[in-house]
Amino acid sequence: MPSNLSQKGAIMSDSAKRATSDRSSRREFLTTSAAALSGAAVGSLAIGRSAHAAGSDMLKVALIGCGGRGNGAAANCLNVPEGTKLTVVADAFEDHARDTLERLKPKYGDRVDVPDDRVFVGLDAYKQAIASDVDVVLLTTPPGFRPMQYKAAVEAGKHVFMEKPVCVDAGGYRTVMAANKLADETNRKVVVGLQLRHDPKQIETMKRLHDGAIGKVTQLRAYRNGSGVWVRSREALAERLGRKPTEMEYQVNNWYYFVWLSGDQIAEQHVHHLDMVLWANGDQHPVEANGMGGRQVRNDKWAQSLGHSLGSVGQIYDHQFVEYTFPDGLRLFSQNRHIRQCWNNSAQFAEGAGGYSNLTGKIFGEHAWEYDGPSVVMTDQEHVDLANAIREDTPHNEGWYGANSSFTAVLGYMATYSGRIIKWDEAAEKGPSLLPENLAWDADPPVLPDDNGSYEHAVAMPGTYKPY
Ligand SMILES: NC(=O)c1ccc[n+]([C@@H]2O[C@H](COP(=O)([O-])OP(=O)(O)OC[C@H]3O[C@@H](n4cnc5c(N)ncnc54)[C@H](O)[C@@H]3O)[C@@H](O)[C@H]2O)c1
Repeated sequence: MPSNLSQKGAIMSDSAKRATSDRSSRREFLTTSAAALSGAAVGSLAIGRSAHAAGSDMLKVALIGCGGRGNGAAANCLNVPEGTKLTVVADAFEDHARDTLERLKPKYGDRVDVPDDRVFVGLDAYKQAIASDVDVVLLTTPPGFRPMQYKAAVEAGKHVFMEKPVCVDAGGYRTVMAANKLADETNRKVVVGLQLRHDPKQIETMKRLHDGAIGKVTQLRAYRNGSGVWVRSREALAERLGRKPTEMEYQVNNWYYFVWLSGDQIAEQHVHHLDMVLWANGDQHPVEANGMGGRQVRNDKWAQSLGHSLGSVGQIYDHQFVEYTFPDGLRLFSQNRHIRQCWNNSAQFAEGAGGYSNLTGKIFGEHAWEYDGPSVVMTDQEHVDLANAIREDTPHNEGWYGANSSFTAVLGYMATYSGRIIKWDEAAEKGPSLLPENLAWDADPPVLPDDNGSYEHAVAMPGTYKPY
């Protein structure tokens, strides 16, 4: 048994010991993978080799969404030591699809095999990519499109890697839950880009918490406080396109600032920390949420003071505080903020009668412990785990906890936007789908600017905003 498992605080039951021994072999594999990934010792790994994809050994992969994360995810997938090949790319904008190929081809050579007739462009490009002869699709577009694309991928019989959040509204949550069911029924494998779940440090920490290392959990806390993200102006997009963008093009490009596309910062980024505390608490979801938030600094005035055009920070909030309640009365206190020169913190904690944990390798209290095992490249490991599940044909569907954590975030913004107590069951059943039915470059998005280009009128006002 690795030394870190036998030190002070070992409180394992028999089943835990069995799981630990399973984990030890998994850990061996992970270590081998991590070493091979960094040392390029391709070809010697214990990746499962049983039949998949009608007997072929090669996993053919389509990338849908060739932005920052899409480029990363494609590389992560090609870092799987053997047998993955990128054969299709799709993006709303042609330059992004082409740039991705230019970036990946020099590094991965023949494993990037995407002729022109397998480059798809436009808001519907995902349909052609999914209909192609591929085994796996990587869904890395703005998250508002995720439920629709995930559903289409599972219906077409593909295995899926999809980025977080997996939904940004209640309609999306319902779609994802139905697609999860279909994925289970049709034995499709699903990995979600909540990469901390693929790191042995977190896996080991959670195992210890679930085995009672801090006793009964009495409080959860989650923080994503930072200074903000990119702003993509109309002017810069016009330069890229060589013409004035349509409103739909502008919003899809500057997607972070529109709720129908991002679900606000709480879904877009804070979902990682919400996911961690839900995991610590056995993946139950909260039954209700209340909260407060607003847009105190990052508004049109702020954007203009930095030289951005009016409307470039759309309609989202810059801070939210949410109190979630679980069925047994347990509370989760959650903060997320995008304001400069404030206290920044990306962290989460579970507290219990016998101590507390940061959920990433440290437990304090009676069973104090610190992880000292191997580390992996989490975003590579996601794809090793997906390839293994496909090749060894083991059940694997992360869409369930992905949906749980993503809708927890959605519940949070419904609470802060409305100023009301929002109940999970009611919101999940009655909450809207924000995705427009007519998704075309010349169609109207669900939110339109005023005559000056501002979206301040579309910022949610507590007391008057109706979540459903
Ligand atoms: N797990 C993580 O740590 C992590 C890190 C970064 C981003 N992400 C997630 O990845 C997703 C993408 O983020 P990003 O930073 O790459 O954004 P991005 O804007 O850099 O990339 C999005 C890409 O999708 C394309 N696109 C937009 N709509 C499309 C559509 N309908 N069909 C096809 N392509 C479309 C865009 O043109 C762009 O190339 C987000 O959900 C984000 O939360 C996850």
